[in-house]
Amino acid sequence: MSTRTASGAKTLPGKYYTSEEIFQLESKNIFSKQWLYAGRICQLKNAGSYFLFNIDHESIIILRDQNEGVKAFYNVCRHRGTRLCSEAEGKFSKTIQCPYHAWTYDLQGNLLAAPNMNEVTGFDNADYPLHEVELAVWEGGIFINLAEEPEPFEKAFKPLIGKFEQWNMPELAIAHHLVYEMEANWKLIFQNYSECYHCPNLHPQLNRLTPFRNSANDLEEGPFLGGPMKFTQDFESMTMSGRRCAAPLGGISGEDLRLVYYYTIFPNMLLSLHPDYVLIHQIHRQSPTHTRIVCDWLFHPDVIADKNAQDRIKSAVDFWDMTNLQDWTVCEQMQKGTGSRRFTHGYYSGQEGILLALDKELLKALGHDEPI
Ligand code: FES
Ligand SMILES: [Fe+2]
Repeated sequence: MSTRTASGAKTLPGKYYTSEEIFQLESKNIFSKQWLYAGRICQLKNAGSYFLFNIDHESIIILRDQNEGVKAFYNVCRHRGTRLCSEAEGKFSKTIQCPYHAWTYDLQGNLLAAPNMNEVTGFDNADYPLHEVELAVWEGGIFINLAEEPEPFEKAFKPLIGKFEQWNMPELAIAHHLVYEMEANWKLIFQNYSECYHCPNLHPQLNRLTPFRNSANDLEEGPFLGGPMKFTQDFESMTMSGRRCAAPLGGISGEDLRLVYYYTIFPNMLLSLHPDYVLIHQIHRQSPTHTRIVCDWLFHPDVIADKNAQDRIKSAVDFWDMTNLQDWTVCEQMQKGTGSRRFTHGYYSGQEGILLALDKELLKALGHDEPI
């Protein structure tokens, strides 16, 4: 798909941003089937470290086990279904104990102890491990899949595997973390991220560093979309000053020093690769009209440890915080407008080809041949 083909094409009808029915269908056909970005390996420092990943009504425990492995389990006790833990993150000792009747599991999910259950004829602890969730680690990111028989991660992520190695993402750590609440449908954030038609008007600071016509796409169809934008002659990263805030990452060299890369990783991740740092937006649907966005700025650990680098890290954080807020404001206005009875659908410009590709991917995943 080329950007030219979007010109004059119709956008999705308003109900895709407001309808509870579509939201439920997304849960069933997308968020219960596809690989979801859950967090970073660096969030699990020691054996027993965990965080919870919540999706719809499910809570998933993601933890580091005793063997340096990473595992994911439903946060559901095998006795009578109680949630095993409620803190968003923390550290288990060597075991996970249910707060209700003290059934106790090891970090591999095996049931170690179930008080008095030895009195139950035929009860065998080995038959009641925690329900495990499929998990994959890629570029330091943890991905989970709730499907009974998920598409293998390597197959699903084939277009991306190996593509970003020069950023050395597995060695990066989280320098800053921000959570935003937004009154808009999650897809509006994907769309907003995928076009720079709005940049001259909405982002004068961003447009000064990377003018809107400096964008190109190297992934134009399928679940992963996006490509590079080029800095103008005077600038070299997305920071308040436009200067790099750290040495180039890993193996970044040549033309990549002049580019920032933006990708949507359907259905819940935006990946922004700068020469000197990486920004990840994690998109959490809450309702048809409410979305939580978690942003992590990833830097090399040496930069994070350097006291003198803190102002420079802040320059990257401030730049994207400012830009995010500009974007969220307009997404919220768009949510309101598309909810109007007079909004049937809109029309794409020639610079919104990726949005048409996103719509196509969404409709395919929902099983809609045409928008309903
Ligand atoms: S519900 Fe967990 S031990 Fe009873
Ligand atoms: Fe924007």
